[in-house]
Amino acid sequence: MLNDTSFAIHPGKEIRGSERDMYDAGKILSFAHDGNRFLARCENGEFAVTFYADEIVRLQMNPFGETEKKHSQAVVLEPEGLPFSVTETGQTVVLSSGKIRVEIGKDPLRVNIYDGENRPLFTEGKKGMGFKADGEVVMFKEMGKDEFFYGFGEKTGYLNKRGEILTMWNSDVYAPHNPETDPLYQSIPFFIAFDRGFARGLFFDNPGKTVFDLQSDPDHLSITAESGSIDYYVFAGPTMKDVLAQYTALTGRMPLPPKWAIGYHQSRYSYESEEEVRRLVEIFKEKGIPLDVVHLDIHYMRGFRVFTFDRSRFPDPKKLVADLKKEGVHVVPIVDPGVKEDPEYPVFQEGIRKDLFCKYLDGTIFYGDVWPGNSAFPDFTDERVRKWWGEKHQFYIDLGIEGIWNDMNEPAVFNETKTMDVKVMHANDGDPKTHRELHNMYGFFMGKATYEGLKERLKGKRPFLLTRSGYAGIQRYSAVWTGDNRSFWEHLQMSLPMVMNLGLSGITFAGADVGGFAHHANGELLARWTQAGSFMPFFRNHSALGTLRQEPWAFGEKYEKIIKKYIELRYRWLPQWYTLFEEAHRKGTPVMRPLVMEYPDDENTYSLFDQFMVGDNVIVAPIMQPAQTVRSVYLPEGNWIHYFTGETFEGGKYHLVEAPLEQMPIFVKQGTMIAHGEVKRNTKEKDESLTLHYYYGPDTRYEFALYDDDGESFAYQDGEYFRKSIRISADPEAVYLEVKEEGNYRPDWKELKLAVHNGKEGLKIYLNGKALQQNSDGTYRLY
Ligand code: NOJ
Repeated sequence: MLNDTSFAIHPGKEIRGSERDMYDAGKILSFAHDGNRFLARCENGEFAVTFYADEIVRLQMNPFGETEKKHSQAVVLEPEGLPFSVTETGQTVVLSSGKIRVEIGKDPLRVNIYDGENRPLFTEGKKGMGFKADGEVVMFKEMGKDEFFYGFGEKTGYLNKRGEILTMWNSDVYAPHNPETDPLYQSIPFFIAFDRGFARGLFFDNPGKTVFDLQSDPDHLSITAESGSIDYYVFAGPTMKDVLAQYTALTGRMPLPPKWAIGYHQSRYSYESEEEVRRLVEIFKEKGIPLDVVHLDIHYMRGFRVFTFDRSRFPDPKKLVADLKKEGVHVVPIVDPGVKEDPEYPVFQEGIRKDLFCKYLDGTIFYGDVWPGNSAFPDFTDERVRKWWGEKHQFYIDLGIEGIWNDMNEPAVFNETKTMDVKVMHANDGDPKTHRELHNMYGFFMGKATYEGLKERLKGKRPFLLTRSGYAGIQRYSAVWTGDNRSFWEHLQMSLPMVMNLGLSGITFAGADVGGFAHHANGELLARWTQAGSFMPFFRNHSALGTLRQEPWAFGEKYEKIIKKYIELRYRWLPQWYTLFEEAHRKGTPVMRPLVMEYPDDENTYSLFDQFMVGDNVIVAPIMQPAQTVRSVYLPEGNWIHYFTGETFEGGKYHLVEAPLEQMPIFVKQGTMIAHGEVKRNTKEKDESLTLHYYYGPDTRYEFALYDDDGESFAYQDGEYFRKSIRISADPEAVYLEVKEEGNYRPDWKELKLAVHNGKEGLKIYLNGKALQQNSDGTYRLY
């Protein structure tokens, strides 16, 4: 509390410089190599280099002992055993795998890493790596003067993180979420360094507390870890998409979510009874507002005991879930890690009897206060516990539930430190470590246990998981929301760079609570937030106990109409979303992207945070201030078509764009295509017909590949999918489409139409060389 007063800037307080008191690794005393690993003994510790894949190299330095071959569970890739050459000169040893060259200075140990074309990936300059007397490990990397930095997971502030100090320590922060609030719930110790179009990545795999300092020294960034050793991976790029493909090859990619999870979610802390939930869904139906998911927050439980339903509030959850499912609505209940200490509660009994809870070294259980009161915490770092936790989910599966929401899994504890005692000892699959060393992976392991447990029990159906906390690799199991924001315009503004940087950290299925969680929303804010949220990957309206209601109709008809229109738009765009989700699943390219990813040579995009792209051809520029009906939008080279007015805007400059309350500026690039389905009540209703919208531009080329599958099973992994690849070229007279199909799946829709926008009179359309006849509604039939 004292830190909330001027005491925080007491002259007696020490300000730490990260280089101070550092012991350098010192000189290399001897080295050896075998297979794909290079090992050097230094004066102060051991140093290792492992070539993981053509464009991925792992570097380790342990000042306190040996470097380990094994890696954390964030990593799913095993080294390929790449051959590499070793060349020794007087001063250096050079390791080269062709695509990556590691130049190692021998006295003292210094590491400079280059790509196959001799471009520096990461260099150390004068500062190297080492440790401090209190056990911290530190390393430095040079920062080029024109370099920008992206990623770092879930952080407040702007898109470019240069000039920031960022701490990774998963924390439950209810308030405030200011630009300086750090850390938050997720820790993704990964970033992309970007220098005039050249991108590389670095993942510092240490689940203890780490600090990335891009502020204290203008020429170097430093990474400090409170525990563990130096263990990092370098990704050679050279584009941002390449870096993400490489990073997600190492840490895994998002599985294709069930289609229903990409629809609209409605939540509230809490919908407190079965009656309230039924009424909610009825209102959506009456008002014709699409809805796929209702979330149940903590009040559904009996005294906040996980794996229970309060039967006075929810007398027949099985029937509720089944009835809602008939209407096409899924129920997603919250599950927190804390298990109430109650000797009459079977889950607690089992946890004690089977020895499943987190304990101190001396065997006593760690208890902490959370919603149910004094609680024990499953040790998810242990495979045995993860299996048990997965089995417990049979409770929800039996009720027909297919999605779970994990919260409070930093883990949050209502105490001074906000979390578990760092002295707790985790089993860690046979390699015991303290909570201090593993803290940032607690939520990750809970996600792993939950997702795998659900997957095993859903008999071939895709589970949906949402989590608040996570670590690198969490994308393999879960979608992420950005926690307890507030109904402030500033938080709407902040959600753009936050979700973009999550996408640049491998987590594409992310979003913020639409309308804001805490504080009170108003009609205008909710309308504007729903507009932005409808174009973000995870789209959920959620609000807190004691705040004004925030359902789409809460602020009257004027706003309801606009909110409904944008939720409907989400459903119209669903085939486009699904196509992009599949690309993200296959390649690691985020669905929601900063402009710099598509226009890396355009300096105007490098810090652009208040507009974003969906895919490679759509720019979304939300309104994020009250009473604003016009905003500046930057459009990169090329021509751009206003999605609502059809007006053409010239790129390469800023435009002042009209944005009345019912309109969020959206632009589609001329010469490109997007896919639309029909507006429907939810994803259970199938499209009869799909339309590909082509925005004609003479002398343009584009490739589009519409993707579809059954949206609920894993059959797509065995070829049961549909991909229609369309190569489009246009000249002043005609548009030529070359179409190819792939996969065994036949979509539900019966026809595929082409709508040509901004085409001139007499424009001809050829499909695989054959001229197409125009339908009476102006479209063309493709399928
Ligand atoms: C904290 C979460 O961030 C919030 O979304 C949730 O409503 C509350 N916990 C209550 O479960």
